[in-house]
Amino acid sequence: MKKYKVGMVGVGRGTAYGHIFTHHPDTEVVALCDFNEESLEQNGKEFGIDDKHLFLNYEDMLNDDIDIVVLGTPIPFHADQTVKGLAAGKHILCEVTASDNLKDCQRMVDAVRSAKTKFMMAENVNYMDFALQWDKYIKAGKIGTPFYAEADYLHEIRDKVDGKWRANRAPLHYCSHSLGPILKWMDDHIVRCTALGNESRCFENKTIGNIDLQVALFETAKGATIKVARSSVARRYPGSGFYSILGTKGYLESSREGYEGTGLRYFEGIDPEKTARKIAIPTSNLDAPPEANAGGHGTSEYYLVYDFLKCIEEDTTPPIDIVRAMDMTVPGLIAHEAAMKGGVWLDVPRITD
Ligand SMILES: NC(=O)c1ccc[n+]([C@@H]2O[C@H](COP(=O)([O-])OP(=O)(O)OC[C@H]3O[C@@H](n4cnc5c(N)ncnc54)[C@H](O)[C@@H]3O)[C@@H](O)[C@H]2O)c1
Repeated sequence: MKKYKVGMVGVGRGTAYGHIFTHHPDTEVVALCDFNEESLEQNGKEFGIDDKHLFLNYEDMLNDDIDIVVLGTPIPFHADQTVKGLAAGKHILCEVTASDNLKDCQRMVDAVRSAKTKFMMAENVNYMDFALQWDKYIKAGKIGTPFYAEADYLHEIRDKVDGKWRANRAPLHYCSHSLGPILKWMDDHIVRCTALGNESRCFENKTIGNIDLQVALFETAKGATIKVARSSVARRYPGSGFYSILGTKGYLESSREGYEGTGLRYFEGIDPEKTARKIAIPTSNLDAPPEANAGGHGTSEYYLVYDFLKCIEEDTTPPIDIVRAMDMTVPGLIAHEAAMKGGVWLDVPRITD
């Protein structure tokens, strides 16, 4: 395998992938970009990058000798940086979610369709160990046909919402951690939705990012129902990353204690009748090397990067390509609209069709 040169823009969250790419034998991190000079300098030292490969301007980094761009910038910048990165012939690994509006989603779709390089959205929950295990169970038919799923992502990050870009990120705009794994398990996409939640009582500063909580009901193309609850301000400690999926022959359910903990399962014909079995909800694969945990969310980023590099090397479709990226992003945009209209039902367009 060729050694790929990686440039990262947005050296906050972006560095999570930087640590994985640094350890990977087939990649090296060679350039960084951030408009915060102090962060840029500090991360330049941490990654051992020469000053001439540290950029305040994204276009300048694109002119450097790099193959892959990691977009770790706030969501409002993803569309523009994806379009420019693909036009410059770079492969793009884009943080979640794809975008905060439909017009930019369409621009991203058009840019990916005409690009020769790869685009993958970095939905890391899809790669958490329990999510990968559940996928195998579900695809093997252990719970039968899925017809209902739930996910909560209640993560109090008021310090990151107040006065920052997340002040304008509606809770349901950030629904890919919830919808991502569920849609993968169901091999499905959303066709319509409704939602509630348009008041800010928890937090004085009344912006859409400070809405207490939003709950959406989604209907899928195969006729399943999905419920998602999202909040960035509710005082729910520890944060809850809850998943449950129910099929015609059983179910899988995580705990509400955070991402890890003990969940429950029932598989008809395997578990004793009408008796649930306790299961572990691991975020990390224990067989992975220690550096595989460097991304910060178990081994998820490590396996995600592995798949991304494989699709570049083998010229195949990325597992979270532009179609999947939009399937995890667009329903959240429409659900927020439904909530602001007081809970109407709205069709969810599949803009990649
Ligand atoms: N997958 C996850 O678990 C996870 C966790 C946190 C954040 N995220 C995602 O990561 C992205 C970044 O989030 P964050 O909390 O690190 O954001 P942030 O506000 O901390 O910004 C990250 C960095 O980007 C820089 N930056 C902002 N705009 C820029 C621009 N136009 N050009 C160059 N640099 C720019 C900032 O100076 C900062 O250093 C978002 O898309 C967010 O949704 C994902």
